[in-house]
Amino acid sequence: MSEGKVGEHWADFLLVTEEAALAAIPQIGRGDKNAADQAAVDGMHHAFKHLPLSARVVIGEGEMDEAPMLFIGEELGRGGLRCDIAVDPLEGTGLTAAAQGGAMTVLSAGPAGSLLHAPDIYMEKICAGPAAAGKLRIDAPLKENVLALARALGRKPSELTAAVLDRSRHVSAIEDLRKLGVSVRLLSAGDVGPAVATCLPGGGVDLVVGTGGAPEGVIAACAVRALGGAFCARMRPESDEERGRLREMFGEDAERALQLEDIVRSEDVVFAATSVTDSAAGPGPRRQGGGVWLSSLAIAGGRVRFVRRFAALEEV
Ligand code: FBP
Repeated sequence: MSEGKVGEHWADFLLVTEEAALAAIPQIGRGDKNAADQAAVDGMHHAFKHLPLSARVVIGEGEMDEAPMLFIGEELGRGGLRCDIAVDPLEGTGLTAAAQGGAMTVLSAGPAGSLLHAPDIYMEKICAGPAAAGKLRIDAPLKENVLALARALGRKPSELTAAVLDRSRHVSAIEDLRKLGVSVRLLSAGDVGPAVATCLPGGGVDLVVGTGGAPEGVIAACAVRALGGAFCARMRPESDEERGRLREMFGEDAERALQLEDIVRSEDVVFAATSVTDSAAGPGPRRQGGGVWLSSLAIAGGRVRFVRRFAALEEV
């Protein structure tokens, strides 16, 4: 087995999200979210051929019989240190199709066996920056969590910003937050970027709450773990079929409260993302002369790197 840390390969992973973003660019604002997603999947899958690692997909595009590429269990890379990867080739497919902010190509990676194999169902999440580490509980009333966060940050609730997916299931949480004076940023989609932003100095978001995709939860949790933030969750199956699948995977207590360490079982993790539209990873692609500027974010080993790359037109 090869020696070394997964985190040392952050630049290799960034090449993968950059290639996926380059492939998605022609689809920005074209109104076809499936075509945008497919372009990013193709670009990401192709880029993995060059990865100097032995990577196994634990969160991807679906089971082998549903997804020809980036399926769960697919082995990628040209060999080396063994690692698990969780990919979302295009987080915000509808945002990309509508050329709205918040879309990014994204992946997380950790040592083999370190990432929760979350199925594609919903997950209830609460996420905040390092000041709140160990102070939030998924079981606690929202008010208690908000007050704990405010105390930890030394601010009033009215000086906090929470990001919440704009869904009918969140109406009462949004009301509760506003009653406390919290400024609520409603998201039409894309809860990964805001979750990561809670851990970035000047990220503009203090708290992310609500129910969204479990795969997206695991991907975001890697960034939060790498930066020492707070992330608590619970699987939220919506049907007997989902509940049964969850029990088969995780046993009788599959719907228990999950701590960050249950979701990401190592600190040696990488989070890599490239903006497809303006996002937490930086401004969306900007064309200049014969090429395009890409903005990316890499998190590993407690370090945050914002990276800009100029890609020549023939790469687009
Ligand atoms: P896309 O599938 O369009 O990329 O959307 C991703 C996302 O918005 C996630 O960020 C979020 O966790 C989840 O979907 C929310 O799901 P729903 O739209 O069903 O509420």
